[in-house]
Amino acid sequence: MKRRLRVLISAGPTRERIDPVRFISNYSTGYMGGQLASEALARGHRVTVVRGPTTEAFPRSARVIPVEDARSMERAMRGAARRADAIIMAAAVADFRAGKRSGRKLSRQGRLTLRLEATPDIIGRLPRRHGQIVAGFALETSDVLARARRKLGRKRLDAIVAQRATRPGGPFGRRAVQAWLLTRRGTTPLGVCSKRRIARALLDKVEGLWYGQLTPQHPSTS
Ligand code: CTP
Repeated sequence: MKRRLRVLISAGPTRERIDPVRFISNYSTGYMGGQLASEALARGHRVTVVRGPTTEAFPRSARVIPVEDARSMERAMRGAARRADAIIMAAAVADFRAGKRSGRKLSRQGRLTLRLEATPDIIGRLPRRHGQIVAGFALETSDVLARARRKLGRKRLDAIVAQRATRPGGPFGRRAVQAWLLTRRGTTPLGVCSKRRIARALLDKVEGLWYGQLTPQHPSTS
């Protein structure tokens, strides 16, 4: 019988604080991560979700670790990744944070220049266990497939879901989106589809890669 997998999913946005009451973030809702979690649970896997600030409800049988910013998400992912067979990085990590956070509320006076720095690439620098399957997402406004394929390589992923962002607000939440599933071996167009369909396609791929690597190779048939 096939062993249940321990699946680690990141979901939602991160919030990068500027001062005690303001932050930088994005339109992510965590819905994609929720669909991945319920699809993985429906397949009998054990699920941990590391989620940024969102009102999205996650399945009760998932272990949920709430985080706020990229730094705390990275810490939680590192802790949970050690026990994971598969990692799916669906969170929309804010790409920038304030170089210096103000301890006091900034007042609305004159001009304000914020110096931003890049957040750490959480999935790219996550320590890996041998055999672990790692997947990510790429949301692009142009050169969708070329950019997604470069991220697949640069971040050492086994699979990446490329999505086209066509309008302000992006395809976040329950909106359908044009998507493709890329692996090192090729690209599968998923068409304009629901988040549930993306979750199914990605979990099919993750399971295929995981169970495939356990199947003994017979010299006579290979
Ligand atoms: N990601 C991450 N840590 C970050 C930014 C992104 O782990 N600081 C993950 C996302 O969760 C996603 C994948 O990397 O699975 C691609 O995210 P994206 O924002 O498209 O990648 P970037 O490295 O930010 O690339 P770019 O800014 O060039 O688009």
